[in-house]
Amino acid sequence: MNKTKIAIFASGGGSNARKILEYFQDSETAEVALVVSNKKDAGVLDIADTFSVPTHLINRQSFYETTEILEVLKAHDIGFIALAGFLWLVPAYLVKAYPGKILNIHPALLPKYGGKGMYGHHVHEAVKAAGELESGPTIHFVNEHYDEGDIVFQATCSLEPEDEPEDIARKVLSLEHAHFPRIIEAVIIKQKVRNN
Ligand code: GAR
Repeated sequence: MNKTKIAIFASGGGSNARKILEYFQDSETAEVALVVSNKKDAGVLDIADTFSVPTHLINRQSFYETTEILEVLKAHDIGFIALAGFLWLVPAYLVKAYPGKILNIHPALLPKYGGKGMYGHHVHEAVKAAGELESGPTIHFVNEHYDEGDIVFQATCSLEPEDEPEDIARKVLSLEHAHFPRIIEAVIIKQKVRNN
């Protein structure tokens, strides 16, 4: 069976992207065929280079006012999208073009601590301020709203009262790395089975 080609969308350092790239180097199911970023100095672009995976830079105007990205995804035969620290809202035309084929990872236990402005350290600061005793990543399908699609997977870690936002971030990120690649693969396998 043909491997599904994955595009990773990322805005930042790309530690999740690196884990996904590593994981799918040995997968029979899928491969990473493109890395898309909205930031020209994003670390994830260098990581993609080290894996010899092509990259594509988007700008706000083309992403929200045209559908050019669909042509780019088509040119790379992309069948699945993983948002790994991608901080822009996915426009409706893109959600529609990839129904049930876009997964996002969010660094909190949704539906808590989600929505616009809730990303990266803002999430962990809010979790700390609320005195939560646990946190963890949520992996969910993407719809037109920030952090609202169906949840596929959550993992939890316990928090100590003395944990600072950076400690919480470290605990959650390590769970992201442990689970996101295999959940992407599991969702793709499920879809392949359904389509046969
Ligand atoms: C990750 O913690 C991810 O969950 C978060 O950004 C970080 C990216 O780290 N995503 C969001 O906050 C989305 N709302 P990375 O660039 O090292 O993978």
